[in-house]
Amino acid sequence: MADAPVVVAVDGPAASGKGTIARRLAEHLGFAHLDTGLLYRAVARRAMDRGGDPADGEAALRAARTLEAGDLAGEGLREETVTSAASVVAADPGVRAALLDFQRGFAAAPPGGAAGAVLDGRDIGTVVCPDAQVKLFLDASPEVRARRRVRELRQRGANAIYAAVLRDMEARDARDRDRAVAPLAPAEDAFVIDTSAMNADEAFREALAHFDARTTSQK
Ligand code: CDP
Repeated sequence: MADAPVVVAVDGPAASGKGTIARRLAEHLGFAHLDTGLLYRAVARRAMDRGGDPADGEAALRAARTLEAGDLAGEGLREETVTSAASVVAADPGVRAALLDFQRGFAAAPPGGAAGAVLDGRDIGTVVCPDAQVKLFLDASPEVRARRRVRELRQRGANAIYAAVLRDMEARDARDRDRAVAPLAPAEDAFVIDTSAMNADEAFREALAHFDARTTSQK
């Protein structure tokens, strides 16, 4: 029987660099990659498109239960209104439960028969894949993260004001950290990388060194 897939969990707050690291690790290792934030964004978008209020649990739950793969490629998932609504629907235990099977299925049987999967989010190492062989938690100061997010938004042609981005990001982080179910927190056995003073290449090198150390010591 083929070896069980290697699972890499990459968690962290907004704009900590987790998406970039997860994508680069997956590319480098030939693993499949799932950006789990897209699931919550797509649920929020669907609830809003149907005229629902994302804070209305019924609408969000319906959207989560009927989510389809195509919704993850939907337009506008990175818009600020969707970003903020995503963290509102993400606090709903029913929504989180409805999305669990898909995420675990992806890790257990990565698409394309890949030998492993990299999942990035907030609760991958703690709740979704607590047995992941490699767990990374990326962090950076709120100011550094807000500057990164401003740059990202401007590159996409959006109008971004630093003070507003910082304020919205801190509100979202607080919502993610303080919720009762699957709050944003490093798993006990996660390797924490503070990327405040690192560029993307440096953070990637740290992440890969940790992956190598973990997977070699387990062989
Ligand atoms: O890219 P960024 O880090 O700003 O956001 P994201 O990863 O796309 O996640 C958007 C929102 O979805 C977060 O603020 C969380 O509330 C929620 N989320 C979650 O609760 N659990 C996950 N595994 C991933 C995202």
